[in-house]
Amino acid sequence: MNIRNISTSPFPDQKPGTSGLRKAVTVFQQPHYLENFIQSIFDTIGDFQGQTLILGGDGRYYNRQAIQIILKMAAANGVGRVKVGIGGIMSTPATSCVIRKYNAFGGIILSASHNPGGPEGDFGVKYNTSNGGPAPEKVTAAIFERSKLIDHYKILEAPDVNLDTLSESKLGDMVVEVIDSVQDYEKLMESLFDFERIRELLSSGNFRMCMDSLHAVTGPYAHNLFEQRLGAPRGTVINGTPLEDFGGGHPDPNLVYAHELVKILFGEAAPDFGAASDGDGDRNMILGRKFFVTPSDSLAVITANATLVPGYQDGLAGVARSMPTSQAADRVAADLGIDCYETPTGWKFFGNLLDANKATVCGEESFGTGSNHIREKDGLWAVLFWLNILAVKQKSVEQLLQEHWYKYGRNYYSRHDYEAIDSERANQLLANLYTQIPTLKGKKLGNYEVEYSDDFSYTDPVDGSISENQGIRIGFTDGSRIVYRLSGTGTQGATLRIYLESYEPDTSKQNLEPQQNLADLITIANEVAQVRTFTNMEKPTVIT
Ligand code: G1P
Ligand code: ZN
Repeated sequence: MNIRNISTSPFPDQKPGTSGLRKAVTVFQQPHYLENFIQSIFDTIGDFQGQTLILGGDGRYYNRQAIQIILKMAAANGVGRVKVGIGGIMSTPATSCVIRKYNAFGGIILSASHNPGGPEGDFGVKYNTSNGGPAPEKVTAAIFERSKLIDHYKILEAPDVNLDTLSESKLGDMVVEVIDSVQDYEKLMESLFDFERIRELLSSGNFRMCMDSLHAVTGPYAHNLFEQRLGAPRGTVINGTPLEDFGGGHPDPNLVYAHELVKILFGEAAPDFGAASDGDGDRNMILGRKFFVTPSDSLAVITANATLVPGYQDGLAGVARSMPTSQAADRVAADLGIDCYETPTGWKFFGNLLDANKATVCGEESFGTGSNHIREKDGLWAVLFWLNILAVKQKSVEQLLQEHWYKYGRNYYSRHDYEAIDSERANQLLANLYTQIPTLKGKKLGNYEVEYSDDFSYTDPVDGSISENQGIRIGFTDGSRIVYRLSGTGTQGATLRIYLESYEPDTSKQNLEPQQNLADLITIANEVAQVRTFTNMEKPTVIT
């Protein structure tokens, strides 16, 4: 066995963002770039000698090459066993499931989530710890510190491993097991949902669904679950074959990028239910016939109806949402008498709440929903949750939402993104907002009066860790909010996100188009931050 010790020098830009290290493929392809980061992980995560690691990715361009490199580095660094997904593919939620199920030391997920793939697209690396969740900030910070000092990495000289058959082989002293995580994932879903009832719904002939996997990682899982296991007709899953470039698309389940699904659900003879998931399978979008469910509302509906689902029939310990997510779930939590936690953006902040059983379900406005069954958000879990609710309630998606708003009021919601703006200008925009924070309280902006304005800071109720500078909030006396923050996942320049929310308890005013309802707040948000001046842009690049 020939372990090589390769000299290297640090790259200054290996700071993990909201969700791992994400860069253009061409950046990762630089000699030593991937290797440096992987060695920095190995140098940071503690004593894994002889232990099991899970490895997989969303199948995007460079996935296969990266897996071969990481396997050889794992062997050289003393890992005992690596369970790797067949074809190098494993969704983010399935990886979390497998880490937990097999008591692995941790896992490495190769994905840039919803960012486009291909030679010109993005690539990414995430490290998850033994609870199955994204490494917390103290671990990602330590990995970054290590990456700034690294001067060598270890790699085994060995032929590539065959990733395309279920098998077990040796790479040096390390065992490489090629696994099919679809089975493990299906078993977990079956333990949570009423498959009998969902099967009745999907095979009844009276209910049609369309699941768009956007040529990304959930294809094999979705075919297996919906068409093979739950009796939906073949063709229910569209774009179900993972492709290295996602068919040239943008694997992000929203109204803009999942346009094929949107056309079907808003077209003639539309199905009853539509869903899509992202590159690595942790996001979801839920649609009814000619009807869009905002992710914030989806979290609220799931919370309100959780006891209809076997895995949650005893009720929820609590619910958690990221700060910019609408406050719809808060109203349900208050009604149920359970706690509602507000965390910074990013799934890693939910881990402690789930581990400590303070929250059972969690959600983000960015099309992320999940629960304590794993430690990642889970796209297909959300789809199954909705199907289970619909199977029990025997109502349409739209009816369900109408009834929900009738009971709790409607939180109108939208996010405006200004992508790829000059980083310096973006920072100036924020700096200008910071100076205004102390002056806004009590001010009238249009018809709204500012109740508070701050830079969101979070103290983790479990370990006391503090995360500052998590977004600027302007809250109004009627419960409306404007939130500004910069993206931590973009790879080009800066992306400004403006989150807008208003609350409407009056049932006669709950059926407006969100942009129309939010028009005044949008104007205020643009004026306060002088968005046009700083971004040089007339309008957002993406509205969700
Ligand atoms: C975005 C979303 C955030 C999500 C993350 C990873 O991060 O806004 O909610 O957790 O992707 O999927 P951002 O680019 O805003 O930092
Ligand atoms: Zn994702």
